[in-house]
Amino acid sequence: MTVSGGSELYYDPFDFEIDTDPYPVWRRMRDEQPLYYNELYKFYALSRYEDASAALTDWQTYRSGRGSILEVIRANIDIPSGMILFEDPPRHDLHRALLARVFTPKKMLALEPKVREFTARCLDPFVGSGTFDFVADLGAQMPMRTIGYLLGIPESDQEAIRDRQARSLTGGQESADLYQAVTVDSSMFVDYIDWRANNPSDDLMTELLTAEFTDETGTLRKLTRDEVLTYVTLLSGAGNETTTRLIGWTGKLLAEHPDQRRELAADRSLVPNAIEEILRYEAPSPIQARYVARDVELYGQTVPAGSIMTLLNASANRDDRHFPDADHFDIHRRIDRHLSFGYGIHFCLGAALARLEGRVALDEILRRWSEWEIDSENATMDRTSTTRGWRRLPAFLG
Ligand code: HEM
Repeated sequence: MTVSGGSELYYDPFDFEIDTDPYPVWRRMRDEQPLYYNELYKFYALSRYEDASAALTDWQTYRSGRGSILEVIRANIDIPSGMILFEDPPRHDLHRALLARVFTPKKMLALEPKVREFTARCLDPFVGSGTFDFVADLGAQMPMRTIGYLLGIPESDQEAIRDRQARSLTGGQESADLYQAVTVDSSMFVDYIDWRANNPSDDLMTELLTAEFTDETGTLRKLTRDEVLTYVTLLSGAGNETTTRLIGWTGKLLAEHPDQRRELAADRSLVPNAIEEILRYEAPSPIQARYVARDVELYGQTVPAGSIMTLLNASANRDDRHFPDADHFDIHRRIDRHLSFGYGIHFCLGAALARLEGRVALDEILRRWSEWEIDSENATMDRTSTTRGWRRLPAFLG
């Protein structure tokens, strides 16, 4: 049953009808049942900003060690060492610290000229053509090239990786396919890792192969090949689909707000804040899942240890209790921490790169076009509970 405005409140994260516009259901959840329970899939949901942000920071209670994607927790999958998204301290902190050492915001920002070059290569063929697909022609291309460049993966092979990833993302809802959404298919990277081990370069894969760290047992060691593989697939998987979605939402929201789009075109210094507002307004990764480590009292109910809790960060971003007039899209809004990159110990490690890519993409689009309309008849949405956004978003360019 898909009731979103009637008397019964029902939220199904796998129901495409609800997902097309989940905001009315999420509003009702925030107002009527801030602690919601879905009987069918057996998960709880926190939809208010205050609750979601508190739970995201309380890792002792809300744990990621069985996965932080609803389908992954339900599928009971073995988590490989190094998959920090699905780890708890102390292991998470050790692995994250190592990854953070090689994947620094400084290194991300130094990529700007490359990101511009990749973006220009996506956009230039469409100058004068009158049409352009924000997702297929840019969103699905540029982030893959960027992370591929960082890792040292040849461009000729990046397309195949990206296709595989997109296929696993459009796969079954209630299956472990979703695991591949963040891990891609790691076998694709094995050859590169072996080859790079014998041919060191100045890329991130080489750094991962040579970095030393102290593990949980106090031993100073290098990462195993499997751990490097996990890192590489995590970076490739976690970073691409989400950034693809961000670029899609950028095209969609600015088509719907032509005055704000023209203002941006006239003053591109507004672009960084516009990207933050786009991230707040349409979170590309709308739901984070956890398992509950101890009994918790919330809104007069006991959430038993062992339950699955979902934290609806996209709903939290539209909570009027935190963001005044939250359903209003405003590129000038002063944003007091949206939750689109999560919060707490799992805060997105690629946020600096995602922001850079979003900013450069919009800046380069506006350099070429300030007018566009979405070809709605041919636009299609695509999602799992992990990502929400557009698969195809063709536009008529003015
Ligand atoms: C974690 C969103 C881009 C790498 C996360 C989390 C969110 C998120 C919500 C937290 C998950 C949780 O709490 O369970 C996004 C969005 C992006 C984006 C919306 C783009 C708009 C990227 C990029 C990379 C990346 C470009 C790297 C190339 C990671 C990693 C983690 C993570 C490694 C795990 C951090 C940890 O568990 O400590 N991201 N992300 N993300 N993200 Fe991103």
